[in-house]
Amino acid sequence: MTWWRDAVVYQIYPRSFNDANGDGIGDLNGIRRQLPYLSWLGIDAIWLSPVFPSPMRDFGYDVANYVEIDPVFGTLRDFDDLVSEAHDLGLRVLLDWIPNHTSSDHPWFVDAHASRESDRRDWYVWRDAKPDGSLPNNWIRAWSDESVWTWDDTTGQYYLHCFLPSQPDLNWANVDVRAAMHETLRFWLDRGVDGFRMDVVHLIGKELNADDPEELRGLSHTPLNDVAVTHEYLREIRAVLDEYSGDRLSVGEVYLLDPERLGAYYGHQDELHLCFNFASMFTGWRADAWLELITRTEHAMTAVSAWPSWVLSNHDNARVATRLGGDQARARAALVLLLTLRGTPFLYAGEELGLEDALISPDQVVDPGGRDGCRAPLPWTRGSDHGWAVEPWLPFAVDAAVRSVESQRSDERSTLHLTKNLLELRHDRDALRKGDLEATHVEGDLLVFDRVVDGERIRVVVNFSRVDCPFIVDGTIVLSSAGEANPGVIRASEALVIELRTT
Ligand code: NOJ
Repeated sequence: MTWWRDAVVYQIYPRSFNDANGDGIGDLNGIRRQLPYLSWLGIDAIWLSPVFPSPMRDFGYDVANYVEIDPVFGTLRDFDDLVSEAHDLGLRVLLDWIPNHTSSDHPWFVDAHASRESDRRDWYVWRDAKPDGSLPNNWIRAWSDESVWTWDDTTGQYYLHCFLPSQPDLNWANVDVRAAMHETLRFWLDRGVDGFRMDVVHLIGKELNADDPEELRGLSHTPLNDVAVTHEYLREIRAVLDEYSGDRLSVGEVYLLDPERLGAYYGHQDELHLCFNFASMFTGWRADAWLELITRTEHAMTAVSAWPSWVLSNHDNARVATRLGGDQARARAALVLLLTLRGTPFLYAGEELGLEDALISPDQVVDPGGRDGCRAPLPWTRGSDHGWAVEPWLPFAVDAAVRSVESQRSDERSTLHLTKNLLELRHDRDALRKGDLEATHVEGDLLVFDRVVDGERIRVVVNFSRVDCPFIVDGTIVLSSAGEANPGVIRASEALVIELRTT
């Protein structure tokens, strides 16, 4: 039973979702309180960005203990309650698993760092300087033009960190590291989680002796991101998930922007179940650009019998409504795309509201990667506190009152209701969940595709232009992103979902 092929996954950034204990930071009990909202909306699963103990230098992506809950988010008991209440509502729960690196505060690194003779020295990646005194290789860490290597004075070697110096990379070549990380998966699987989003999982295998080609320096696109041994490690990880019943899911953050390169990470149905297809976040709002992305994705995925996934926003990138210049009509059309393309959609909390990023002044920046804007707290109510008992850890997004859940819930024409309607439609129509993708093409600025299953054919038409276009519908319009369709015309930035007559 591959539930995740049919599912819509909702990403929660826990710090910014809902605050139950009134400290200005969202928490597990805050999420519990909003489970009825998520159930009303109609999503199928939630993925929680990290909730593990962490010094929060990368806001939880620097894990100091893989098998506990950070007190800022609650307790293991709260987590167990969250899982059981979610399950009671038919919602699955995915955790974020961070296999590539730990925090430098993790006891494993504290031990490894203490001496060259430490038991866990080899759990991380240590190297001498080259004979000429230079760095072990030319790799550059994220968010800077600095090296991935930091010199450790205590033990006289460099250690590797693809992200912050306080996020040392684990040495996956060490079988004890692999076994220990597998145990962290089992810990949560035993507690009933339905799977994991796996952070930069394509980085766990490394060819340390190779320099990055000069023109490809940095983390994205380098061949060093994408090495053969990673697939062995992924097969082992998959085997751990397969020890459990219930079809536990792995979705990999494989940060390679070519859909063609993602296929390998599914293996022969023995590696990841799904990979994020991040190219969609960097595709301009043009019919031809989306046609190319969709066509390439379909080819790449069908070539290896893999199931696609789609995403428009997350906690690392400007939200889609912001990328579209705050144009709500376009943001609504983008939601139609996300929720009607073939594959599992990932909806970032707030996207159902058409939320934009917050404007962050230089003194409000807290993230080392400068990603604060897209992490703004969710506005629950219209009033100025937006349902947060104290001022939250980041400012609210632009237009938070108008975009709040409260404002939109009472307005049938809102983006929130559009999202709910789309989710209902997906739920009701096999074609939208399971159907093949056919007849994908552009007509001028219109992108057109069909979803087809067992005599059911649903056509999606998106007008990427800012002008109305004449359009004759050969079927029944079941949804318009503009609220009501206009006969004979597809409006500027409108997306239509049409049930076609089949013979
Ligand atoms: C990707 C995560 O999405 C991002 O937030 C984090 O900073 C890096 N991986 C490092 O873990």
